[in-house]
Amino acid sequence: MSKQKTTAKIISQTRISDSIYDMRLETALAEGALPGQFIGVYTRDKSMLLPRPISICEADRDRNMLRIVYRVVGEGTAEFSSYREGESVEILGILGNGFPVSEGKGRTAFLVSGGIGVPPMVQLSKELEPVAGRLYNVTGYRNSDTFLKDDLAKYGEVHIATEDGSVGTKGNVIDAMRALNDGGIEADVIFACGPMPMLKAVKRYAEEKHIKAYISLEERMACGVGACLGCVVRTNGTDTHSYVNNARICTDGPVFDAEYVNI
Ligand SMILES: Cc1cc2nc3c(=O)[nH]c(=O)nc-3n(C[C@H](O)[C@H](O)[C@H](O)COP(=O)(O)OP(=O)(O)OC[C@H]3O[C@@H](n4cnc5c(N)ncnc54)[C@H](O)[C@@H]3O)c2cc1C
Ligand code: FES
Repeated sequence: MSKQKTTAKIISQTRISDSIYDMRLETALAEGALPGQFIGVYTRDKSMLLPRPISICEADRDRNMLRIVYRVVGEGTAEFSSYREGESVEILGILGNGFPVSEGKGRTAFLVSGGIGVPPMVQLSKELEPVAGRLYNVTGYRNSDTFLKDDLAKYGEVHIATEDGSVGTKGNVIDAMRALNDGGIEADVIFACGPMPMLKAVKRYAEEKHIKAYISLEERMACGVGACLGCVVRTNGTDTHSYVNNARICTDGPVFDAEYVNI
């Protein structure tokens, strides 16, 4: 489906933890949405021109429903949190490439996420569960605010790491993966989304163990459609268009083979 700016109706908006909101939208864009893809959400405040990129947490194609889960961090997301059921919002989508679900077929998949990288793992888990051999969500949180844990648990085991040790393994997602290894479980393939230090550590873990890893780089973006070069990442391959070792996260990603990007 080509990218289009469209008006979506807000079916519901719920605060699911301190600063995290769950918004469900009625939109035909749900039809072509893949896990790991995202939409641009426009503010009504016209002083903020650029849409805010937010991942697809769930897509229900039969009901034309897209679910997004976001943390309030600045003016744009604060404005979104004031929206109510029945109102409408302008969105741009569907953007980005998405995770290669077929790579998980018949294999043991670790879905590794942290912080606001957790939402896309819900739709990814939903699509991998019927095809993967085994599926483990390894999820990192700051503390006992383990938002979306119950959504992930519908599709397989969830192994949690918390920085303060209040739930699961004390430490980070790498510590939680090593705890799984101690129980004789290792990934054939890793899908990851989260903050850059986490993704760097996942890339190192995958290299060390010769495991294929796909990582979603949810870095800052501007236009979101490939026009401004505000989101480039260094790569090991040459771009066929510009002949440089760069890729645009918004259009070539946000999901990349971890071996391909220099992070
Ligand atoms: C592909 C993609 C998918 C995303 N998916 C989600 C999602 O599902 N849920 C969600 O809550 N957020 C997601 N984000 C991050 C989200 O886009 C930003 O938090 C949002 O744009 C902030 O807008 P704002 O106007 O509220 O804050 P701003 O005023 O723009 O920024 C406020 C603060 O947040 C920081 N910030 C802004 N963008 C990012 C970012 N991308 N990463 C880290 N820090 C940032 C800024 O440095 C600043 O400190 C995603 C980003 C990308 C690129
Ligand atoms: S955000 Fe403009 S090119 Fe990617």
